[in-house]
Amino acid sequence: MAHLTRLAHLFGAALAAPLVMAAAPAPSDADELFEYGQYLSSQCSTCHRLDAYEGAIPPLGHLPRDYFIVAMREYRSGRRNNPAMVSVANALNDEEIEALAVYYTRIRE
Ligand code: HEC
Repeated sequence: MAHLTRLAHLFGAALAAPLVMAAAPAPSDADELFEYGQYLSSQCSTCHRLDAYEGAIPPLGHLPRDYFIVAMREYRSGRRNNPAMVSVANALNDEEIEALAVYYTRIRE
């Protein structure tokens, strides 16, 4: 019996080890999206500020995530029809919009 218990411990350790190793260094998906969004945002900051209107251009920092995504989809579908934003949004796919949403809803500046 003591033998079996030792075996179980050995197997337990062998099974647990790879899980611990896999969890340690990998950055989370959210962090990767944030960095991708930050990279993409350079094409937005030519017009948009984060925290204040620039003429008629609204700030993008701290918009609610769902609001941001719905707004971008509405520019793509033409439901919102500002020509500058329609052409910006049409050049972005869903993943890029998601990354920008993560970035703009998470920055603290
Ligand atoms: C050429 C200037 C310009 C660029 C570049 C630009 N925008 Fe805009 N954006 C505007 C203007 C002008 C508006 C207001 C349009 C309107 O009234 O619908 C706007 C509105 C928005 C809104 C709606 C905000 C709200 O409060 O409803 C979002 C979201 C947005 N832009 C995101 C972006 C993102 C993300 C990028 C970069 C990928 C970007 N914009 C690039 C000019 C620009």
